[in-house]
Amino acid sequence: MTASVISAESIPGTGRAARGAIELRQVSKHYGDVVAVDELDLTVQPGEFVTLLGPSGSGKTTTMMMVAGFEDHSAGTVLIDGKPVDSLPPRDRNLGVVFQNYALFPHMSALENVEFALRMRKVPREERRQRAEEALDRVGLGKMGGRKPRQLSGGQQQRVALARALVFNPAALLLDEPMAALDKRLREQMQEEIKTLQKGLGISVLFVTHDQDEAMAMSDRIVVMRDGKIVQSGAPEEVYNHPLTDWVASFLGDTNLIPCTIVERNGEEAVVDLGGLGLAKVRDRGASGENYAVSIRPEHLKFRTRASAGNGCAATLVSSTNLGATVRHRLTAGGHELQLRELSSDRGAGIRPDEELWVGWDADKAQLLVLES
Ligand SMILES: Nc1ncnc2c1ncn2[C@@H]1O[C@H](COP(=O)(O)OP(=O)(O)O)[C@@H](O)[C@H]1O
Ligand SMILES: [Mg+2]
Repeated sequence: MTASVISAESIPGTGRAARGAIELRQVSKHYGDVVAVDELDLTVQPGEFVTLLGPSGSGKTTTMMMVAGFEDHSAGTVLIDGKPVDSLPPRDRNLGVVFQNYALFPHMSALENVEFALRMRKVPREERRQRAEEALDRVGLGKMGGRKPRQLSGGQQQRVALARALVFNPAALLLDEPMAALDKRLREQMQEEIKTLQKGLGISVLFVTHDQDEAMAMSDRIVVMRDGKIVQSGAPEEVYNHPLTDWVASFLGDTNLIPCTIVERNGEEAVVDLGGLGLAKVRDRGASGENYAVSIRPEHLKFRTRASAGNGCAATLVSSTNLGATVRHRLTAGGHELQLRELSSDRGAGIRPDEELWVGWDADKAQLLVLES
C-alpha cells in the first residue's frame, strides 16, 4: 500500500491496452570527436518502464534528446510504434517529455502551462480547459491550477510538468532525471506516484537516472550505460544479482570483488579458485574476458559457525560501523578485505563469542564476472 496522492482508481482510462513502443536501431551521436552515443540498439515495449542508468556523461540525455527529436542523430533510426520518426519535429512524435531543465513558463499559471501543450496541438479552447483540468487532477493538483510556478513547491512544479506531458495523451513518456532537484522523501513519493500513474495508464516510459536505487525501485528493465554504450540490460534483480562485469557490479551498489581463476564451467554454475578463500561453486552468466572475479554483495556475506556447511573462511573483524538501519563490518579473510552488512536488529546474530569468527555465503549469492579494471 502506498500513501500517494495519485491512485489508480482516480485515473480515467485505467485498464487501457498497453501502448507506445520506442525503438532505436544502431543510433549514434557524434559531437566533433566526442562519441556521445555509440550504435545503440534499444527497444521499449508497449507499457514497459525502461530506465537508462549510468554515470554522468554516459550518453543518457543525448539518447533521450534524439528520441524526443530535440537533437538530430548522426546515424541510425528511431521508430515510434513501428514508424520511423527521424524527419518528424518533436511536436509530431506524440511523446510526453519531462526533462530536469525543461522548465514551466513562469508567467503562466499551472493550468495555462498544461493547456499550452494542447494549444500547440491546435485543440479547441473549450476542450483544452477541460482536459488540462483533468490532467492536473490526475497529478493531485486540481485545486492549484491558478497558481504561478513560483507559488508552487519543487515537487508540485514537477507534477505540473508531468500533467503537461500527459495531457495530449502521448504514445509514451520520456522522463530525464525528473526528480533530481527534489529531496529524498519527496523523490521517493514521486517515484511511487509516477509508477502508479504509468501502470494505470498502461503507457510506456523511457526514464533516465544516475541513481541506482531509483532505477531499482521503478523499472521493469534497467539498461546500464557507459561511454555511450549499453553494457548490460535486464530486470532490476537480474542486473543487481548477476552483473557481468566488476564495473556494473560496483555501479549498482557495494560489493566484494574477489579475484579468481576458473576451474570448471557448467552452464549456470562454475567452480572457481578464490586463492586464500579456497574453491567455491558460483553462479555463471557466461561473461567472458581475460581476468575474472567473484562478486558477493555485503548483505550476502554472513557470520557463521565453522561447523555450518558451505562456502566460508575464518575471518578477523577490523571495524564495525552503525549506519542506522544496517551495520557495516570490515573484515579480513583469506588475505582479502571484505565488507559484511547486516540489519542493526540482527547485529552479531551469527557470532559465537567462544568460537573462531567465520564468514560464509550461499553458493547462489556469489556471481562470476569479468574483471575490467
Ligand atoms: N551539445 C554538446 N556538445 C558537445 N558535447 C556534448 C554535447 N552534449 C553532450 N555532449 C557530450 O556527450 C557525452 C554524453 O553526454 P550526456 O548525454 O549529457 O550524458 P548523461 O546524460 O549520461 O550525463 C558527454 O561526453 C558530453 O560531454
Ligand atoms: Mg543527463
